[in-house]
Amino acid sequence: MERFNYTYPVRIHFGQGCFEDSLKQELQRYGKNVLLAYGGDSLKRTGLYDRIITILNDAGKTVTDFAGIMPNPTYAKVQEGAMMVREHHIDFILAVGGGSVSDCCKIISAQARIGDDIWEMEYGKHLLPESFVPMGVVVTASGTGSEQNNGAVITHEQKQLKSALWGAFADFAILDPDLTKTVPMKQVISGAFDTLSHCMETYFGRPEEINVSDEINEAVQRNTIRNLRRIIANPNDDYARSELMWASAMGENGILKLGKVTDFQCHMLEHQLGAYTDCNHGQGLAVLHPVFYRHIYQNAEEKFTRWAQEVWLVNGAIEGINSLADFIHEIKLPNRLSEMGINLDDTTIHAIAESTIITPGCCKKLTTDEIIEILNECK
Ligand code: NZQ
Ligand code: ZN
Repeated sequence: MERFNYTYPVRIHFGQGCFEDSLKQELQRYGKNVLLAYGGDSLKRTGLYDRIITILNDAGKTVTDFAGIMPNPTYAKVQEGAMMVREHHIDFILAVGGGSVSDCCKIISAQARIGDDIWEMEYGKHLLPESFVPMGVVVTASGTGSEQNNGAVITHEQKQLKSALWGAFADFAILDPDLTKTVPMKQVISGAFDTLSHCMETYFGRPEEINVSDEINEAVQRNTIRNLRRIIANPNDDYARSELMWASAMGENGILKLGKVTDFQCHMLEHQLGAYTDCNHGQGLAVLHPVFYRHIYQNAEEKFTRWAQEVWLVNGAIEGINSLADFIHEIKLPNRLSEMGINLDDTTIHAIAESTIITPGCCKKLTTDEIIEILNECK
């Protein structure tokens, strides 16, 4: 095991039907001025907006609407939100949505309290924010586990970077699987694949030797695969839906990362693919993962062999990777970028490869040339 300190600051409310009572209970802790932050039109379409407004009004809150947080949230949207928080003297941010809304709000919460440009502060001065506007998250689409941690993935359009920024931890997160029932199946699948990816990215980090976190991780991977198959077979399978929601949380609440240096090289590559194409995160990962693993597995063959046995029930590292690729095909995620309508030219491939962050936890240090090869193989 690597050394670690572990504290977990997020209060979790989990369970079918828990949303209203949990929100009412939590709202008592915060001041009057609430920023209600959400994405596109799904919140109003599903009727959840009206339910939330009623709860906020009954609690005597003054509500400022912050709508239109897009999938792959932009830095400009973060700045817009921070300005609103300052202008309306916001006491509390209520983020309602999937990973994009949650991520955007974590950084709004920090940016609103600092004069500096937060991107410059974190990447230029290597300083992290210390003061935050309190926030809570109501999860309406699971998979990223974003509500569990203080990392956020933000697209800086001018810089053509999709990068991690560090912001607020939510004070609380409400995970009511009923709220995810309106998510289109395509997004349910790409979200759950993101969960599987987070587990794998953690598992294949250092040390290679199996530890407690890895053994729990294997169970979460098996669970995600099994329940994803169940929910595809029957979208009304509430049990599978709730399992996937908690598996998503387990992927990112830190438990699987204890004693590990995580890999996340595939994520870094997907984020830059996203910066240039604005692609769906889970779908981008689905295309990249098997190709990426075929490039690196020989550097951690024992671990890949164990993973093949424990997660996919097959013998041999390459057989495990093939099982992953077959699974991606089975659940109708793309195996090629062209299936996502993405046709990368050489200039873009070079730009993505040159701007991809190389992670310390990956078993193989990728070169720019190898990333170019990987991207060409994904076409
Ligand atoms: O925008 P609306 O209209 O609300 O529609 C959304 C969006 O189009 C829809 N949706 C959400 N809840 C719904 C619903 N539709 C119907 N009913 C509901 N209840 O789902 C679509 C996708 O939402 P989004 O939040 O973009 O998806 P996801 O949760 O997959 O988040 C993706 C973002 O999270 C980042 C990704 O890079 C990407 O930007 N990630 C954040 C991580 C973190 N902070 O820990 C880790 C991940 O690796 C990931 O990078
Ligand atoms: Zn992810």
